[in-house]
Amino acid sequence: MKILFVCLGNICRSPTAEAVFRAVAARDAPDLTIEVDSAGTAGYHIGSPPDPRTIASAHRRGYDMSPLRARVVEPSDFELYDLILAMDRENLSALHQRAPAHTRERVRLFLEFAADAGVTEVPDPYYGGPNGFEEVLDLIEAASNGLLQHLRQRARAA
Ligand code: 4NP
Repeated sequence: MKILFVCLGNICRSPTAEAVFRAVAARDAPDLTIEVDSAGTAGYHIGSPPDPRTIASAHRRGYDMSPLRARVVEPSDFELYDLILAMDRENLSALHQRAPAHTRERVRLFLEFAADAGVTEVPDPYYGGPNGFEEVLDLIEAASNGLLQHLRQRARAA
């Protein structure tokens, strides 16, 4: 299974999802072969590491994000990835506009997998306070657990 997480800049939310889900999958599902990456719908930060506030809050929960570098979504991503998971509706819509018709069903909201979260979008923390980065982590940890359960069911059904 290949999973791509997508936000706007690929320096806050989607690299957090990449790092958290990679760690959760390695810890809880070492039997599954899962590849993970992240990208942005905008190219403002191509080649940059994640935002220092993102790195710091993830580090406090044991996730190492320092090696990650931002990239933009490319046309080939729609062919390569089984699931392309957007952090919010704005990015979902940007992805739907770019997705070839036969790949459209691969593009979904990440928080579909966090049914109990009470929200359907991961809020953009870029212009907010430090609490925003903790909320991003809480939502992403919840959705990562849900996504892993979904992938287990898919693997059993295959
Ligand atoms: P992200 O956050 O989409 O979660 O990476 C943002 C990063 C940068 C900007 C906006 C959101 N920006 O406007 O530069």
